[in-house]
Amino acid sequence: MTDHMERVVALSKRRGFVFPSSEIYGGLQATYDYGPAGVELKRLIKDDWWRDMVREREDVVGLDASILMAARVWEVSGHVAGFNDPMVDCKTCKGRFREDKLEGSVCLKKKGKTPLECGGELTEPRLFNLMFKTKAGPIDEDAATIYLRPETAQGIFVNFKNVMDSTRVKIPFGVAQQGKAFRNEIVTGGQIFRMREFEQMEMEFFCAPGTDEEWHEYWQAERLRWWQDLGVRKAKLRIRPHGKDELAHYARGCGDIEYEYPWGWDEVEGVANRGDYDLSHHQEGSGRGLAYRDDEKKAWVVPYVIEPSGGVDRCFLTVLCDAYEEEVKPNGETRTVLHLHPKLAPTQVAIFPLVKKLGMPEKAQEIYADLKTRFRCLYDQAGSIGKRYARNDEVGTPFCVTVDGDSIEDGTVTVRHRDSLEQERVPAENLAAYLGDAMAAWTRE
Ligand code: GAP
Repeated sequence: MTDHMERVVALSKRRGFVFPSSEIYGGLQATYDYGPAGVELKRLIKDDWWRDMVREREDVVGLDASILMAARVWEVSGHVAGFNDPMVDCKTCKGRFREDKLEGSVCLKKKGKTPLECGGELTEPRLFNLMFKTKAGPIDEDAATIYLRPETAQGIFVNFKNVMDSTRVKIPFGVAQQGKAFRNEIVTGGQIFRMREFEQMEMEFFCAPGTDEEWHEYWQAERLRWWQDLGVRKAKLRIRPHGKDELAHYARGCGDIEYEYPWGWDEVEGVANRGDYDLSHHQEGSGRGLAYRDDEKKAWVVPYVIEPSGGVDRCFLTVLCDAYEEEVKPNGETRTVLHLHPKLAPTQVAIFPLVKKLGMPEKAQEIYADLKTRFRCLYDQAGSIGKRYARNDEVGTPFCVTVDGDSIEDGTVTVRHRDSLEQERVPAENLAAYLGDAMAAWTRE
């Protein structure tokens, strides 16, 4: 892990964003828990995606399919046969590594070396399926083997007809879903970047064959716009088209949205053209018609699918990495700050009395009670004002409001801006409007 990444990970634990799972028992590799600040940020990311992808669109509806599905789904979708990573074993250190990631792997015995450099003897590559198997049913021997879903997408494909029959949607339209997915990843790491249990936000956009390339372009541009609207810096985002040799078994084309992480450019979201691969296979596998009636062609047609597919956790890490900064203040001190977009800040306004006497706590509580109905607020009277500011900088609170002696006299309060460190006196009765305007005007270079 790079130094920068280590500091982001340390802050995420220190401030209650992300904890290693089962930590008191030594942890479980590649699984993480979200703390009080983290669960809030994660919800805000998911809500923003849902607003943008479903609520504010007339051509996309939502779905929440189950994690456990008939095993047949995964046979027909090609995941049982094709969702594999090529693995090699080292006969010397007994490690098992992904063949395509040998350069980034570490020998189990010679820690500074990759399996290509340590001199160990590697086996020929063998395919390793990434799906977790489990049993459904009370009696172990008779129970059916099923899988934990490795992508949410198949829940949408198998419900295509249900959605068509129960709503007024017409091609082209999309079905969006958020939910957990599971992969028995061989190479994990980058904290929540690659985990075995993670959450996806996916949308399958069904369109007429022949219009798919145009929609593919459209959705790549739309998704990049969403990432920028989230406050992630434009210069740190790019779209990289997949080479033919990298395409997943179902894809005709794919553009990855990539972010420049501390370790380099890496995928945050894929926007794939899945053609009619999934619906055609499920139509054949289930014997149920999964086509729509094309009135112009006077024929039944299996639609093509464009799929923007992002990871919630990977988005969370991207937002955190992008917001994190260690800054030298005008007085020479260093501060750690998260420049989160105010719409994503777990706390938007922190309200403090300068001291715990002279009517200041009462006045600050009054302001807190008023503002908390409009913003995510926190009241804090513990510790020095400097420490309270520093704590809130680290958790990304964009505005701190301090009630002091003058507030009791003239009804004004100090608003401190996280990013510029500017402080302004604002009449308490104008606070809500002032903060609303400042949040709406937020930008970042
Ligand atoms: N339905 C298509 C699909 O699942 P994918 O590229 O395998 O495509 C989509 O996954 C997104 O899910 C990725 O861009 C990434 O953000 C997230 N993702 C995939 N595997 C992950 C893992 N092991 N841990 C965290 N996020 C993951």
